[in-house]
Amino acid sequence: MNAQASLKIALAGLGTVGGGTVQLLAEQAGLLAERTGKRLELVAVAALARPQGLPLDGVPFFTDARTMAKDADYDVLVELIGGADGIALDIVTTALGRGRSVVTANKAMIAHHGVALAQLAEGSGATLGFEASVGGGIPIIKSLREGLAGNRVTRVMGILNGTCNYILTTMLEQGRDFGDVLAEAQKLGYAEADPSFDIDGIDTAHKLAILAALAFAMPVDIKSVKAEGIRHVSALDIRYAEELGYRIKLLGVANRGESGVETRVYPAMVPLSFPLAHVGGVFNAVVTEGDFVGRTVLEGRGAGARPTASAVVADLIDLARDRRTPTFGVPVATLKVLPEAPEGASHSAYYIRLMVKDEPGVFADIAAALRDERVSMEQVIQRGRAPNETVPVVMTVHETSEAAMLRAVARIAALPAVAEPPRLIRIEAL
Ligand SMILES: NC(=O)c1ccc[n+]([C@@H]2O[C@H](COP(=O)([O-])OP(=O)(O)OC[C@H]3O[C@@H](n4cnc5c(N)ncnc54)[C@H](OP(=O)(O)O)[C@@H]3O)[C@@H](O)[C@H]2O)c1
Repeated sequence: MNAQASLKIALAGLGTVGGGTVQLLAEQAGLLAERTGKRLELVAVAALARPQGLPLDGVPFFTDARTMAKDADYDVLVELIGGADGIALDIVTTALGRGRSVVTANKAMIAHHGVALAQLAEGSGATLGFEASVGGGIPIIKSLREGLAGNRVTRVMGILNGTCNYILTTMLEQGRDFGDVLAEAQKLGYAEADPSFDIDGIDTAHKLAILAALAFAMPVDIKSVKAEGIRHVSALDIRYAEELGYRIKLLGVANRGESGVETRVYPAMVPLSFPLAHVGGVFNAVVTEGDFVGRTVLEGRGAGARPTASAVVADLIDLARDRRTPTFGVPVATLKVLPEAPEGASHSAYYIRLMVKDEPGVFADIAAALRDERVSMEQVIQRGRAPNETVPVVMTVHETSEAAMLRAVARIAALPAVAEPPRLIRIEAL
């Protein structure tokens, strides 16, 4: 190995992921040099304030990341500040414009600006790595872009947000309601003070848009992702799901079918026989389906300093080895805008929970609404009768079109005996 050869790294953002990356580069320096033939050398770092306790002795420190991106002498800029726009986008644009490669964990930025940044990188001969942006330590980007590159991928889906998965797992294990578990997660630091980014499915949508682009060789299209979060999932639904043989998970699902591409985020009932049902707590998992390989499942820690640093450094290793792959697997000009699947056309089995006043004839009305839309019932659970009180009626129905299901549910919701808006949850076909 040439003792002088090094990959010069400028790193912006020394928080959770930045701190973890600095630690990994220091602790594994020998191993990384052996594997790449180069020293992975931090030549500059930037953050608002110099953090204590990181092995950064002698590394020039910038309080202005823009100045570092513009003036420092580096081969690769590692962006670990976050945010779709603002400083993160500025420094990445500056680095790529200078022909310097970029490694980032910033899913929001890639989801909103991925194509423009990939184009900039292509134009200047730089590389844009974003392994850490989806699934934390799970190497899903490489998996789709390289390991599965011989396949036509028809589906990629996963549990992509650790905060939601932690909340749903805790609701299940402790039988507690959503608001209660969310408040505790905030106290413990597992959920942000403003949790909407996670619990409304926005973070999962960003990651799904990135995965769909790689899987289907299409431009990243965050606007087409329909996102529904977990605010409305109740402890009652989680209990019924278990009884019926399912577990509720927030999924990001991208399908490529004959009628087009559908990218959606929603809480779904996952059969207990499927591995995703058993991915608990802050773990993430991604399932892909390709025409030659069939199904693959990757599971691991979806966030945190060490797992995410592992993914950041994987991209740095590629650069040190001079391994370059087009940002989204193909040159930007080759990415194809694909038609979106028509609204309501997707087919699925469903779980429906109604809160119903126990009155004569009500069940016949519900059955008629389903029959008129050709929705066929699979199971019905109704327990307990309490005159003048509402009781839960839970049904599962066989696969039907979403449009038909929504029409039937709208009719059921309007029945005078139905006390609350019905809860409708997809049952994931696997
Ligand atoms: N946390 C995870 O597990 C995880 C997992 C996957 C991906 N990501 C992504 O990784 C990125 C970083 O996340 P994180 O959790 O590490 O965030 P974080 O802990 O909040 O760290 C952000 C860092 O950026 C610094 N910073 C903020 N504004 C800055 C500015 N104007 N100039 C220079 N530095 C600035 C902060 O400095 P101060 O500390 O001085 O404020 C802090 O060091 C985000 O894009 C996130 O989505 C995170």
